[in-house]
Amino acid sequence: MQFNVKQGFVQDAATGLLVVNCFEGVTEPSGALKAVDQALNGLISQVLAAGDYQGKLGETLLLYSGGALPAQRVLITGLGKPADFGVAQARKASAAAARQARDLGVTRLATVVHGAGQGGLDAVVAGQALVEGTLLGGYRYRGYKRDSGDNNKPEIAEVTVLEADPGKLAAVQQGVVIGQAVGEAANWARDLVNEPPNYLTPRELARRVVERAAAVGLKTQVLGEAEMAELGMGSLLGIARGSDEEAQFIVLEHVPQGVDGQGLATVALVGKAITFDTGGISIKPAENMWKMKDAMGGGAATAAALVAAASLNLPVHAVGLIAATENMPGGDAIKPSDVVTALNGKTVEIISTDAEGRQVLADALCYAARYQPDAVVDIATLTGAIGIALGPELGGLFCDDATLRDRLLHAGEWTGESLWSMPLWKPYRRLLDTDAADMKHTGGRLGGSITAALFLREFAGEQPWAHLDIASVAWQEENSAFAVRGASGFGARLLFELLRAYGGG
Ligand code: BES
Ligand code: MN
Repeated sequence: MQFNVKQGFVQDAATGLLVVNCFEGVTEPSGALKAVDQALNGLISQVLAAGDYQGKLGETLLLYSGGALPAQRVLITGLGKPADFGVAQARKASAAAARQARDLGVTRLATVVHGAGQGGLDAVVAGQALVEGTLLGGYRYRGYKRDSGDNNKPEIAEVTVLEADPGKLAAVQQGVVIGQAVGEAANWARDLVNEPPNYLTPRELARRVVERAAAVGLKTQVLGEAEMAELGMGSLLGIARGSDEEAQFIVLEHVPQGVDGQGLATVALVGKAITFDTGGISIKPAENMWKMKDAMGGGAATAAALVAAASLNLPVHAVGLIAATENMPGGDAIKPSDVVTALNGKTVEIISTDAEGRQVLADALCYAARYQPDAVVDIATLTGAIGIALGPELGGLFCDDATLRDRLLHAGEWTGESLWSMPLWKPYRRLLDTDAADMKHTGGRLGGSITAALFLREFAGEQPWAHLDIASVAWQEENSAFAVRGASGFGARLLFELLRAYGGG
């Protein structure tokens, strides 16, 4: 998708589709909406007076100009109530418009910058939200469908971003560049998660990640099983044993160009990338097993955040560690009651081979120590229990460091990838006690997400550390006004914003 920022007025835009917006509760159009309303002889005022369109967030109205405007169609996207408006709403309104455009098969459109006028958003922020939302809302996984149908509708090719105020053009342009890098990275993460696991094996994941990472100047390194064995990553390798596919440990590093390295913060992101989770010997029930291709959502988000950070040359030293393997049953697979030794020497008794995510993260968290990071954040589709606790819209945040926690909560509010703070309740550590090893890796059904987080802490080192459990948000079940069902890309934009915060802005 190409974005062109242009100084201009909506009433002059010659385009197949012109997107403007409307706040909920508006009776008298103003700004761009007013200009369009006047050209259409008060048509929009009529619709609003009749109460047929309310401007609710996600609510769109499609009108045809009948030659009264150079634009063939006008799409109004609702911004919701002014009191609730912010960057997340601007992004959603843009996404809703893009979904409509995509459904119409419109390939070129022109749009105002939602929120930059009456909404009071900073022009850079509004430009970013517009482009991010348009990319996210216009997303569709192409997959392997051969027949025609929705999937073969053309993608939006070109978006003209109209800004009437010449003084704001440069700022909008700056936001557009950021939004494009971040939105494209997030959609790439969605593609990786949506990809069937027979195509996206650990090695194929590594290949795709390295290809894209190298293109934006990230340093890359991929460890195979032999190298991991030499290092002593017995926890990850234990999980990999059941699969014929070789496990991969993908290391990405962003060292900013043209920036003084002194005083730069180092942030390590650690992602779980189980390309398919059968549960292993503790095999999962058949019914919903197919969804377990999303067990690499954390790894995809990690890769995407690093890619966006590198393409924008964020002034932060960022490391991405992606632990990739399948979790399969097999003659050589790990068994409940086996004991493995992690990279830091700690021994772990396996209780359920379906609790494989924490095993691969354990070694990856230990590996992070070699960078002496100022903060470590892991992200994983770790527990079904987090969905029971928080439902389908909130990711679980486990963090005892106030600064890191606030930065993550703030980033999530900003990107609309909402997090909720959960307890790292120390007394539950006893639930991981066992006779056969330093610890067992599960603590029972009750508080299952908390004991999983307490397990990870054993490998996280002394620096500020946070764990994001995205098991219930990585996959969206149904289409909404803003997004298509399937992989959500949750975490990609949030982690990018976290890196941005560590870079000082
Ligand atoms: N990938 C799953 C987590 C998951 C479960 C995501 C359900 C989405 C829906 C993870 O590897 C897993 O299997 N977790 C187990 C842990 C348990 C055995 C302690 C779970 O939550 O059931
Ligand atoms: Mn599992």
